[in-house]
Amino acid sequence: MHARTPKHFVLEERLERYADFIEPAPQDYAGRWAEACYPLGGTSAAGGAAGAGRFREVRLDLGCGKGAFTVESARREPDVLFLGMDGEPLCMAYAGGLAAKSGLKNVVFLAWDGHRVTEAFAPGELSRIYLNFPTPFPRKRQARRRLTDATCLMEYRRILAPDGTLRLKTDSHPLYLFTLEELAAAGYQVLWTSEDARADFPNDPTSGYEERLAANGAKVFALEATPGPEPAHFSPTPQRGLVEYLPQDLEKLDYVPLGMEATVWNMRNREAKLWAKGHKGSGSASGGEKIC
Ligand SMILES: C[S@@+](CC[C@H](N)C(=O)[O-])C[C@H]1O[C@@H](n2cnc3c(N)ncnc32)[C@H](O)[C@@H]1O
Repeated sequence: MHARTPKHFVLEERLERYADFIEPAPQDYAGRWAEACYPLGGTSAAGGAAGAGRFREVRLDLGCGKGAFTVESARREPDVLFLGMDGEPLCMAYAGGLAAKSGLKNVVFLAWDGHRVTEAFAPGELSRIYLNFPTPFPRKRQARRRLTDATCLMEYRRILAPDGTLRLKTDSHPLYLFTLEELAAAGYQVLWTSEDARADFPNDPTSGYEERLAANGAKVFALEATPGPEPAHFSPTPQRGLVEYLPQDLEKLDYVPLGMEATVWNMRNREAKLWAKGHKGSGSASGGEKIC
C-alpha cells in the first residue's frame, strides 16, 4: 500500500509548497475549528485569526489518503468544514496540492496520527467521522492498529456530537463484519448498512481507493452508526485476525479484499496441497468425487 512517487517529486518541497493547507499542530485548534477556519485564508493552514462567523458543521475524513474524497465533499458542501487527517506525509503532500488547486475555502488537512485524534478536537466538536477504506491491518497482532477497533471507537465517542455519526466504507467484508462487532462492544447504534454502497448511493463522492478497488471488481460495504448509551463496563475486545471473518469455503470468495491477498493465496495453496495429498492416498484420481 505504499505509493510510488513520481520522478521529480521532493516530499519536503511539496509539504512546504502546500503548507497553507496542511496543519501539523491540530491540537492548537481543538474546540475552535468552526470559527478559526471561517473563512479560510489566514496565515496558518487552519486559517489564523478568527473570521466573522462559523462553519455549520465540522467533519473529519480519518485516514484520508491523498484527499480526493475530502476535497470533493468540501466542494459539494461549502458551509461545512472538511478536515482530512492522515499519518502519512506523502499523502498529506498530495492532499495539500489537491486542496490548493481546488480553490476551496473549507478544506484543511491534518498531518496527525488517528490514534491521537482526541487531542485535536474538543468533546462533541465533530458532526461526522468518515472512515473510507481504512487500512485493514489483517493480522491478529495488528488488530489494535485498526481504526475501527473498539478502543478507537470509544475515543471517537468523546469528540462526536451526541447526534454525530461514523461512516465506514470498505472493500473488505471481513473488516466490515469485525467493525459491526466492535461497534456493538463500544455501544454504538447502527443506523444503516449496505452491502453494495455504490449501487445504494451512486451519487456519493468517491475516494481514491474506492475508484481503484472498484476497477478491480470490489463491492463496497458501508454503514453509518451513532454513539448510543456508553457501555457501563467497557473492556477492550480480544485481538482477532481478519482471517477469522473469511468464509470457510474459499471457493465462495470471488474478490480478495485489500491487504488479504497473501493470506488467501497461502490458504488456497494449503487447501490445494491437502486435497492433492488426500487424493494421492485414496488410490484414485478423483476418489469418486466430481473434480471439475
Ligand atoms: C487504504 S488507505 C485509504 C485512503 C483514503 N481514505 C481512500 O479511501 O482513498 C488508508 C489510509 O489510512 C492511513 N492511516 C492508517 N492508519 C492511520 C492512522 N493511525 N492515523 C492516520 N492515518 C492512518 C494511511 O496512511 C492511508 O493513507
